[in-house]
Amino acid sequence: MRPFKLGFIGAGFVAHFHAAALKSTRVADLAGVFAPKGADSLQAYAKANGIGDCEIYDSIEELCNNVDSVSIVAPNFARIDIMGAIADAVKKGAPLKGIICEKPLGRTLKEAKQLVEIAKQTKLPTAYFENQIHMKAIKSALKQLGPQQAAMGPIALARSAEEHGGPHEGWFWDPTQQGGGVLSDMGCHSIAVSWFVLNPLGTAPDFLKPVSINADVGLLKWGQPKYRKDLLDRMGVDYTKTPAEDFATGMVTFENPDTGQRVKAQFTNSWMYDKQGLRLLMDGLGPGYAFEVNTLKSPLEIFIGDEAAEACADAEMALEKATASRGLLTVQPNEPDLYGYLDEIEDAVAAFKQGKDALLNFEYGLEITRLCQAGYLSAETGKTIDLTDPKTDKELDSYVSLIAQGKAQEQLNVK
Ligand SMILES: NC(=O)c1ccc[n+]([C@@H]2O[C@H](COP(=O)([O-])OP(=O)(O)OC[C@H]3O[C@@H](n4cnc5c(N)ncnc54)[C@H](O)[C@@H]3O)[C@@H](O)[C@H]2O)c1
Repeated sequence: MRPFKLGFIGAGFVAHFHAAALKSTRVADLAGVFAPKGADSLQAYAKANGIGDCEIYDSIEELCNNVDSVSIVAPNFARIDIMGAIADAVKKGAPLKGIICEKPLGRTLKEAKQLVEIAKQTKLPTAYFENQIHMKAIKSALKQLGPQQAAMGPIALARSAEEHGGPHEGWFWDPTQQGGGVLSDMGCHSIAVSWFVLNPLGTAPDFLKPVSINADVGLLKWGQPKYRKDLLDRMGVDYTKTPAEDFATGMVTFENPDTGQRVKAQFTNSWMYDKQGLRLLMDGLGPGYAFEVNTLKSPLEIFIGDEAAEACADAEMALEKATASRGLLTVQPNEPDLYGYLDEIEDAVAAFKQGKDALLNFEYGLEITRLCQAGYLSAETGKTIDLTDPKTDKELDSYVSLIAQGKAQEQLNVK
């Protein structure tokens, strides 16, 4: 019998990734789900794979009454309402031990602060799900380089990229629903994982203090007339009127509060990466040592020639966001484990069982939202944003990027 009962709020793309991760662990069951769409297929998957009964509930309150923890794996625009419903259920006595929320915590700093506030009212431990920090490759790199960090000093430059050919649902592309484009969607991952590896060993995930950020965004592929039409036809989103960036890059500078040493995190994200599929690329450079992670390097390669290609039904069986089903394909046999989904679930369950926050809590998620929003502000104003200036915080408190407002035709040069 698995002791811990997880309930999912949402049953789409990432819910299926989390469910697939549960196949590799005994720490939790997928006990229930609430979702407007997809609950049946998630339940069928859970039963077929022996990861739990995944009872379908008609309300968030009912779900909360029947599980140990809920995971918010629903779209970004629904966060506040969902957290409100969880808090109401807890007030009425739902026996939850913790609340999990997928990235990004909020679409704006204001929303992320609301989420933190509502969570505080429940007095429950929280987990902000940022899977890349939990990747075994990242953990192994840091462990392996422990002696070098101790002898030579910490990593001074971390570079991180997450790129693929574009999201799978219309709401992701729509900046007014998602909160922006690729910087909001995937910049949060790359900034977080670089911050994490830059922290000296043994320190908290928010040990280094953010000093400044500069960022640049562009609409390099999906703003072209041909691809705007494709997006409108397939996703119902009109980038002539409400464009979002499909490319973002920038640099965050951090300072060690004990030594004053400054280190840098460079991030690059795109929805125009037309290669095999999703690629995560991270590296860290310290004095005299380095590491590099590239998730497109797999011990398994598969070749499918033109003649045999007709038989290939599902390119995404090989890799998340795979774009090809023939030629030399990269195949990752256990993506939920590779990307850190398994370890983040195990971390949250272990913490909640002890009545504690996970390694990354909602307050941490709030800090990542702050950095992403400061990135938008930098791209909009063309300035480096001083993250130590209290005026910046004040400005960000009510800031909604032009892109998130659906008013970025000029900024993104849409003609
Ligand atoms: N960690 C990662 O790499 C990663 C990857 C993908 C998505 N995500 C995050 O996970 C979340 C969900 O993304 P997705 O790709 O699974 O989306 P999706 O569109 O594939 O699925 C969303 C699910 O939520 C349900 N839903 C919609 N409105 C709801 C509401 N008001 N209340 C409850 N459920 C509702 C939908 O019916 C659907 O089942 C997003 O916040 C996204 O940013 C994270």
